[in-house]
Amino acid sequence: MTAFAYRDGVLHAEGVSLAHLADEVGTPLYVYAAGAIEASYDAYARGLADAGLRALVAYGVKANDNLAVIATLARRGAGADVVSGGEIARAIAAGIVPGRIIYSGVGKTPAEIVQALDAGIRQFNVESAAEIDTIARIAGDHGVTAPVALRVNPDVDAGTHHKIATGRKGDKFGVDMVDAPALYARMAADRRLAPRGLALHIGSQILSLAPFRAAFGALAGLARTLRAEGLPVATLDFGGGLGVAYRDDAEAPSRADYGRVIAEAIGDLLVDVAIEPGRSIVAMAGVLVTRIVATKESHGTRFVVVDAAMNDLLRPAMYDAYHGIRPVVRPRTEDESLVDVVGPICESSDVFARARPMPPVAARHVLVIDAAGAYGRVMASCYNARPLIPEVMVRGDRAEIIRRRPTFEESIALEAMPPWLAPASTQGAA
Ligand code: LLP
Repeated sequence: MTAFAYRDGVLHAEGVSLAHLADEVGTPLYVYAAGAIEASYDAYARGLADAGLRALVAYGVKANDNLAVIATLARRGAGADVVSGGEIARAIAAGIVPGRIIYSGVGKTPAEIVQALDAGIRQFNVESAAEIDTIARIAGDHGVTAPVALRVNPDVDAGTHHKIATGRKGDKFGVDMVDAPALYARMAADRRLAPRGLALHIGSQILSLAPFRAAFGALAGLARTLRAEGLPVATLDFGGGLGVAYRDDAEAPSRADYGRVIAEAIGDLLVDVAIEPGRSIVAMAGVLVTRIVATKESHGTRFVVVDAAMNDLLRPAMYDAYHGIRPVVRPRTEDESLVDVVGPICESSDVFARARPMPPVAARHVLVIDAAGAYGRVMASCYNARPLIPEVMVRGDRAEIIRRRPTFEESIALEAMPPWLAPASTQGAA
């Protein structure tokens, strides 16, 4: 299913013209297609069910934490994988059942642990010996039992960008496989903890099933070892989902094949399964719509300067990530020339694409940056005092603003002047 397609020469999100939205809402803005989010979630649920698995799809909220996006998934029965108190609050506000919330992350603070215990989440994915002790102590103080799973580091290289690989020796995540049995036994011996099982996450934007197969096999093997020692292992959490095809020539494995890899790893082991896909659920369901401010040529390079910038979509600057870019009005010619698409921020890293083939474009034209639904708005900042940009959700012919653009007054409203900078007339009254 393509949520974004040209209709009568104008790019649409489902039934809504992106040219129209650019005029009505103002650029830059994010646009998400609800149908694409749902279809993507359903494909995971079906892939796992077809592989014969009893599974929880816990949406990786960090990929896109807009309440309407989370609520769209909550309505489908999704759980949530969260990594902060903020994400716990968002997930619950959007209607995710607390019993379907998995709390991951290498640095949970005592306040966040209390928040999660009070909410009654499904499980903490514990990342270290120290964290076992902290969670046990806080649960004990509160007179409750904390459901915990042990996150292991399987030492598998996911072959992804080094900044988003998490399952190699030397990465900060999880506990070493060799230490896992003793730590698990320690959790099982502690009345304040209820060990539920094991978890891993080897990285993001993985387009090959091979690293998943290796890691999942290791996880299931460890579960067998623990059970042989009489330890309870009810659930296995296989971490984040598949990568997506940012480039036309790339291909992501199917959800059905992914489900089969999990089923093969588990074999006859009777366990509940959880996965934490983020990117693959929302990336292709979103675009960033931006208007060209100016074009210029310098030392033989043609620059297309747009009104979106690295603060709005950080992935190209941070990971040299590729995002397709196309004009909102379908070009009438096959002619293309190579351009650099850049934002207005005063840094040379504020570049969305270099030497990209582009049809003739001019100031005021609108461009669409593709596959921006994941790790887009959530990684945005207000650098250069640029307010966070609005988000719109489209469903069929309807479009609704799901996060409005703040006014400049709102943007500065949380700041306060220290007394010594207050206007002279209000100083020194005594
Ligand atoms: N679970 C855990 C514990 C994670 O750390 C992550 C992502 C996920 C699930 C979701 O993984 P996914 O299905 O999205 O691959 N900002 C980077 C991506 C960072 C991913 C970090 N962890 C980017 O823009 O590419």
